[in-house]
Amino acid sequence: MLIKTAEFICSNTQIDKLPEPNKPEYAFIGRSNVGKSSLINAITGRKYLAKTSQKPGKTQLINHFLINDNWYLVDLPGYGFAQTSKKNRSDWEKFIRAYLTRRETLQCVFVLIDSRHEPQKIDLDFVYWLGEKGLPFMLVFTKADKHSGVKSDQNIAKFRRALKQWFEEVPAHFLTSSETKIGCDELLNTIGDINEN
Ligand code: GTP
Ligand code: MG
Repeated sequence: MLIKTAEFICSNTQIDKLPEPNKPEYAFIGRSNVGKSSLINAITGRKYLAKTSQKPGKTQLINHFLINDNWYLVDLPGYGFAQTSKKNRSDWEKFIRAYLTRRETLQCVFVLIDSRHEPQKIDLDFVYWLGEKGLPFMLVFTKADKHSGVKSDQNIAKFRRALKQWFEEVPAHFLTSSETKIGCDELLNTIGDINEN
């Protein structure tokens, strides 16, 4: 899919202030610092569309970006950020979970997972919750440029194996890098296919 336009629409902490639910929408979620905002910039080919940082906890709000005037990419705050208070964490939980379960135009949740690590409980728990709620999701393994392909493949296989205890069919996955852009076209084309169906 060709990206002709990509524009920031709004940042939100209130579900009732989100843009009108009249376009298909795709959310990026995952641990703090996993590379959600960077991947949004990489797939849209816009370096500064979503704000990124070396420090975890950069994205704090629900950010809507309108792509090609007809669908939304949504950048979400990361989970598992240790430097925040319990209250903040539980507010995050409520707010993000409410967004994910109530947003009727949400087509797919892309769950970003750092390809350098073995399966982490926090990611598995989150995917389990998506399954429980019947929310459509796909797995996106990030930062592929940071280590060998063999290691990524092993970690991906372990993650998929761990999910097999809960899911009859584990959804598709992508291996991506915001640096080399590997996997970015594939991810965009998948969004294009969903938009057309
Ligand atoms: P929060 O908003 O804090 O939840 O983080 P995030 O998931 O949006 O991560 P962000 O995109 O801000 O990236 C975090 C750090 O990882 C930054 O220093 C990025 O430059 C780096 N990074 C992200 N993706 C990649 C990648 O594919 N390769 C490499 N080498 N670095 C990456
Ligand atoms: Mg971010």
